[in-house]
Amino acid sequence: RPGAEEWVPARPSLRTLRSAVQECRGCELYRDATQGVMGDGARRAGLVLLGEQPGDQEDQQGEPFVGPAGRVLDEALADADLAATDVFRTNVVKHFRWSGTRGKRRIHQSPNKGHVEACRPWLRAELALVRPRGVVVLGSTAGQALYGPQFRVGESRGRALPWPDDLDLAHPPAWAVATTHPSAVLRARDERQAAYDALVADLRVAVRLLG
Ligand code: URA
Ligand code: SF4
Repeated sequence: RPGAEEWVPARPSLRTLRSAVQECRGCELYRDATQGVMGDGARRAGLVLLGEQPGDQEDQQGEPFVGPAGRVLDEALADADLAATDVFRTNVVKHFRWSGTRGKRRIHQSPNKGHVEACRPWLRAELALVRPRGVVVLGSTAGQALYGPQFRVGESRGRALPWPDDLDLAHPPAWAVATTHPSAVLRARDERQAAYDALVADLRVAVRLLG
């Protein structure tokens, strides 16, 4: 079976995952990327924030959510009174998919279902180590990775969703809350403030669920 499984260490730590992902050949995305980007944050964070894939900046720096979308996310976390120490930020796909350039920036392309499927063992390993109480699903790629192709952020956002059991975790999260991806806030021109406020409102739902 193709996919990342054979590159994931048997008894990993967050640190060994980070080095092991650099060897992954589970799909072709490693070829055009600078490096693999694993999640970052508190080892036993209450909440995992799940994005799509590293972007241009993340690919260069090797850390998730350090570019423009990450700045929106950090601001929204602060406005939702979520302590940065209680979150772990990661993505469903660990290598940056892109094609073509615009100025100096490489143009982002969303990963497809095959990439998401191939990369799932890395996400499973992170969730097994962090054991979050809940997961915030950022945008439709993350949502479809967990709930299938019918998933729509607009229909599912801002409330507790049951955790889908197909990741086969010994200690699964109790719930997930879906919201818009912070990069969608950046793209929403006239409605940027409304989109941002809705993101913060959804994060507050997760804060309430954390108790
Ligand atoms: N967008 C994502 O989904 N993840 C990142 O890490 C950065 C941008
Ligand atoms: Fe491996 Fe995921 Fe990178 Fe594909 S995207 S090579 S599965 S780490």
